[in-house]
Amino acid sequence: MNPVMENILTRRSIRSYEERQIPAESLDQILLAGTYAPSGRSLQTWKFTAVQNPQVLARINAALREALRTVAAGPGTHPYVVRLKAKAEREDSEFLFHAPTYVIVSNDRENVNALADSAVAMENMMLAAHSLGIGSCWLNHLPGLTRHPVIRGLMAELDIPDHHDIFATLALGWPKNSSPAAGPRKDVIHIIR
Ligand SMILES: Cc1cc2nc3c(=O)[nH]c(=O)nc-3n(C[C@H](O)[C@H](O)[C@H](O)COP(=O)(O)O)c2cc1C
Repeated sequence: MNPVMENILTRRSIRSYEERQIPAESLDQILLAGTYAPSGRSLQTWKFTAVQNPQVLARINAALREALRTVAAGPGTHPYVVRLKAKAEREDSEFLFHAPTYVIVSNDRENVNALADSAVAMENMMLAAHSLGIGSCWLNHLPGLTRHPVIRGLMAELDIPDHHDIFATLALGWPKNSSPAAGPRKDVIHIIR
């Protein structure tokens, strides 16, 4: 199988990481791969904020916890959010899988392609990471809370522009365990010849 196909088929979401940091050159390559993703009209309105500083990672986790605790929830609230809110009540709750590197993908909220552009950049970064033996996992807590005042404050601290929302985030690190096998694929392919 050609190496690109093999890389695509063997990438898995990794949720447990070694403490040691990934090399600076690897992070550079992963972020470069993100910037080479396609974007609608090639506008490239995204920003990739990579965090490796342990204090800042702890600050992000604390802000997430605070936002989750205070976000309004009612009868219609998605069960996933209800679960996250319950987790946030625990003082030791950790939302970033203790990943040593965390990338926040923000984008201009006025760009109609912001979500799609951010998603293709995410996949480029996940595949680049995997090609280097580095594990990754898409984490979707922050995007859902991007308008929460606590998260707006965090974004300002991280120099994420005011006109941006967070569309995706990525945990990165050396996998602690060997990769699980891919789950079964659904029968979704229909070729009309
Ligand atoms: C849009 C999106 C959001 C996701 N959000 C989360 C998340 O918040 N937490 C998490 O652990 N995994 C998250 N994932 C990872 C998926 O659970 C994972 O891709 C899926 O289970 C398939 O597993 P695989 O990536 O190993 O093939 C997300 C993936 C995508 C594409």
